[in-house]
Formats: sequence, C-alpha cells, structure tokens
Amino acid sequence: MSTTSDVPKDFDHLDPRTAPRVHDVLALFRRSCPVAHSAAHGGFYVVTKYDHIKHVAQRADLFSSAVDGLGAVVVVPGVDGVLAPLFELDPPEHTFWRRHLQEFFSPVGAARHEPYIRRLTQEAVAGLAPLGRADFVTDLAQRIPPFVVGALLGVPEADRPALSSLTVGLFGAGTVEEAQRIGRDYAEFLLAQIEARRGRDGDDLLTSAVNTEIGGRHATDGELLKLAFLMVAAGHLTTVDTIANTLLVLAQDDALRRRVTADLSLLAEVVEESVRHESAVAATGRTVRADTSLGDVPLSAGDRVLLAWGSANRDEQRFPDGAQFRLDRGRLPVPQLGWGAGAHRCLGMHLARLEVRVVLEEVLRAIPDFSLADGAEPERTYGVIRGVRSLPVEWVTSSS
Ligand code: HEM
Repeated sequence: MSTTSDVPKDFDHLDPRTAPRVHDVLALFRRSCPVAHSAAHGGFYVVTKYDHIKHVAQRADLFSSAVDGLGAVVVVPGVDGVLAPLFELDPPEHTFWRRHLQEFFSPVGAARHEPYIRRLTQEAVAGLAPLGRADFVTDLAQRIPPFVVGALLGVPEADRPALSSLTVGLFGAGTVEEAQRIGRDYAEFLLAQIEARRGRDGDDLLTSAVNTEIGGRHATDGELLKLAFLMVAAGHLTTVDTIANTLLVLAQDDALRRRVTADLSLLAEVVEESVRHESAVAATGRTVRADTSLGDVPLSAGDRVLLAWGSANRDEQRFPDGAQFRLDRGRLPVPQLGWGAGAHRCLGMHLARLEVRVVLEEVLRAIPDFSLADGAEPERTYGVIRGVRSLPVEWVTSSS
C-alpha cells in the first residue's frame, strides 16, 4: 500500500527524465495523493484523477487558462505579457473568439482539407515505400501537420515549406539559444503573413482574425502573432505525436496492425483509443481565480494547477485496464479526456481525427507490414506533449 510519503515532492513534467516512468508516477499519485503539491517551477498542484480534471476544465469561472510557467517557454519575441486570443482567455472574451473561429474547425470545415492531407501523405509514403526503412517521426509524421496548419491559416502553398522547417526546427531545437534564433525568424515570418492580410478578403483563419472586430475590437499585432504561433503549435506536435504514438502501437502489435489493415474502417476507433491511451496533450495548466478546493486540498487564488489529461484517461475508476490499448472498449461510460473538456475543449478535434486517420490509412495501404527496426527502443517524451522522439521502422520491399 503506497502512502503520501511515497509520492515525489518535486514532480516536473518538463524534465526529460520524467518521461520514461511517467505513467507509474501518475498512477502512484492517483492512488495516494491525487491532488499533489510539487515544488518544481515555483510550486504548483498536479491533478491526476478523472473527476478532478474534468471539474477544473469545466469551471472556467474558478480556474483561468492564463497561466505562467507551466508550459513550454514561448521563444517568439513580441508576445511578452500578451494573452493569446482564444487559448489564454476566459469567458466571455474566450467565447467571442471561439464562436468566431468555429467555422474553420467544424466537421465540414475540416473535411475541406482531406484531399490535401491525402496528397501530402501519399507523396511522403511513395518516397519511403521502396526504401524498406524509415524514421516514421522525421520522415513521415512531421511532414504533414505543419503544412495542414499552413493551409488552415491561409499561408500560400509556396510558403508552407518555410513554415514547416521553422516549426520542425523550433520544436526540435537542442538549445535555448537555437530556439531563440529560430523564434526570431518565426516571428518575422508570421508578422509578414499577418501584414499581407490587412484589408484583404480571404476565407482562411488568419485573414479572418486580422480583419474582423472580435469582442468589439481588432486584435493587436502581438495578439495576432501569439494566436498564429499557438495555432501552429496546437496543430503540429499534438498531431505528429498522435500519429507517432499510434504507429508505435501498430509496429509493436502485429495482430492489431493486420486486423486494422484488413478493415480500415476500424481506424476511427484506433485514433480515439490512441488519444486516450497516450494522450498527446499530456498536461496543461490553469490558475486558480478564487479560493476553492479540490478533493480535500484547499486552493488559493493565484495557485497554479497542472491537469494531467493522460492520467485522467488511465484513471482505474473510469477506465479498467487503462494501460492497455484495446479496440473493444465499446461505447465508453464516460468520455475520454484526450481532447480536453469544458470551454477550451480541442477546437481542432475534427481536423486532428481526420488528419491522423488519413495518414494511417495511407501508411497501412502502402506499407502494411512495418515493424520496429532491429534493436530500436523509441525514446518517450513527456511535458505539455507526450510522444516519441524518433520511430525507426523497417519492412520488406519487393527488391529486398
Ligand atoms: C490529435 C491531436 C490533438 C490533440 C490530442 C489535441 C488535444 C487538445 C486538448 C487536450 C486541448 C485542451 C487543452 C486545455 O484545455 O488546456 C486542446 C485545445 C485546442 N486545440 Fe487541440 N489537439 C489536437 C490537435 C489539434 C489540431 C490539429 C488543432 C488545429 C490546428 C488544434 C487546435 C486546438 C485549439 C485551437 C485549442 C484551444 C481551444 C480553446 O482554447 O478554446 N488541436 N487540444
């Protein structure tokens, strides 16, 4: 029987050493101290149980989405002290933005991108299939989402390779200095995109955000820059890592991969179970707005809490065998929280589902028999995002 004295006092989701054993540690928190204080990053509470996480997400009146210091460092200059439209706003300001941007993310809005996603994936897969080996993270997963977010924002097709290399470079930067250097180029790129849209017509998200009064005023340059940056961030790593997390499961489970390859209609269920099983958005923060409590833990205004979404999705009381990837869960008695909950529930959910499904479909059609490369042990990542750093796989080709 574990006790509160067994749980770490300085849980740090942003420390790379947390990743390999994170599910064990979160299970320990759930058992012994579901709302636990951590001394890391100036102090915050880690929230690990399904019901508590859902409660916090649904009570935007008590928990604000504007939170400092629990996310990845934003290295794009020009956004210091700026609250990102949508992402960091609380109702009612949040609601104005959400309503305004909704049309770009509806099932119909998302479906408009399907032919483009399929073309991008088919091109990437056609280049890989004859090789017999690849890194499914760098050679495939990372090559789709930045282009799709580019299309969503209305970045001209000719400029999307630049957006993609800035995005992949920034999120893969090895040092803070490298990230800051790329961050400066990133800001320049996005500001030029914003400037090019002023006073213009266009049916893309960024043109609409630049030219429309939302909540009674036009957004400032800093707000538009942060919105565009966070939109790329929201649509990039999340999707790359969901694709990679799912391909890892399929590489390790031959029976599952063969079953799904034989019946691609199972992919919708595969995507949903993947987002539950290894929730790519792993942990995001909130700031307490007014004194309250969670379970028996009192919280004061200004305290910060970290919602461990992936932990909610393995909560033993909600998902028996939560650590298992299973396609036979049927209709879940409670919704899994991998897309979030409440006012900030993932706006890009329909686009993300479509994107991951189409990529998996095209991979399984062209390369049905891939497996982990000999000796490969994919390195897990954790933080705001849960994924794998690289995924070396191999398969037999007609010329092998
Ligand atoms: C499989 C991939 C994805 C997963 C697992 C995912 C998950 C999530 C989660 C859990 C949240 C809520 C975070 C919180 O409340 O703190 C969120 C918010 C959001 N996501 Fe996604 N997401 C994915 C892909 C995307 C894509 C492709 C886009 C579009 C470009 C997107 C756009 C957004 C936006 C705009 C929000 C903020 C919504 C708001 O504040 O009202 N997401 N996502």
